[in-house]
Amino acid sequence: MTQASADRQRLRALPKAEIHVHLEGCFSREQIAGLAQAAGEPLPRPPEDLFTFKNLVEFLGFLDWSCGLVHTEAQVEAMAYSFCCRLSDNGAGYADAIINPTHWPAWRHRLPEMIAALDRGFTAAERDDLPPVGLCLSLLRQQSADEAAELLDMMIALRSPRVVALSIDGNEAAAGRTGPRFADTFRRAGAAGFRRTVHAGESSGPDGVRDAIHLLGAERIDHGVRAAEDRALMDEIRDLGIPLDITPTSNVRLGIYPRYEEHPIERLRQHGIPVSVGTDDPELLETTLVEEYARVAGTFGWNDDVLRTVAKTSIEASFASPEVKRDLLEALSAW
Ligand code: ADE
Ligand code: ZN
Repeated sequence: MTQASADRQRLRALPKAEIHVHLEGCFSREQIAGLAQAAGEPLPRPPEDLFTFKNLVEFLGFLDWSCGLVHTEAQVEAMAYSFCCRLSDNGAGYADAIINPTHWPAWRHRLPEMIAALDRGFTAAERDDLPPVGLCLSLLRQQSADEAAELLDMMIALRSPRVVALSIDGNEAAAGRTGPRFADTFRRAGAAGFRRTVHAGESSGPDGVRDAIHLLGAERIDHGVRAAEDRALMDEIRDLGIPLDITPTSNVRLGIYPRYEEHPIERLRQHGIPVSVGTDDPELLETTLVEEYARVAGTFGWNDDVLRTVAKTSIEASFASPEVKRDLLEALSAW
């Protein structure tokens, strides 16, 4: 066995949670080809270029197209099941999976049916000893305050134990400052018992991260990397202990940083901010959770203590049940 494959085996065995991953980014090339064929739609470009994206805007447009191919409950169920297989392949013991209904046009008026189908897929996976999953329903930055309120009302009416959090994602640069628009819905989500996670500091700068904390009550920030441009904000995030779930390959592939070496994850970590590592959209960005850990550990020379701390953050910052967290933390202390 080569050193690289031995390292990856150890990283696979590292008990951890995957807390920044979008279901929309988990279609493999083969799944997309099958869905396109079933829908009678041609691929938008040659298969070898399918996952080439210039930037976040182009990437988000691709999600609208690929998720638009999904029409049946059986397809949604299969998607949920294969999501859990990927977790298991990477040694993740739990995931908070983000799903943004705006990417799935066929389900616009039947969201409860879609969530039920996802739930069946996740339940079947758990019965087969695959890892448990909580769903984070996500708003798109460009949506209106009324649309946000409507999604939350649906979540409250549904009362599905599968749905653990309200999230927000999409392109902040295109939407401008939207924290005030969504503040009331995020406040109501917290009062209704939902957890809150917010994409910020990717397509927005430090101000987007500030709004996530002050206006949206973010318990966790997805990305948050551009907080590194503002020392006072880094101090605040550290003092509040708000975790950042960081996806280095996504940030490099979508043009936020030119190279891994210039990625601020290590500066944020050294500042005392709790950081975890995720994949964002693993299939479309051609990465895995184990690869993310390996890449960051290799780039910044992380030893086992650092890896253990980062994995611990991923578990503690997750929206898993106390039992799942306890079991994962116990397994981690034995790693
Ligand atoms: N949805 C899926 N991936 C995303 C990203 N990196 N940023 C914003 N929204 C997303
Ligand atoms: Zn994301």
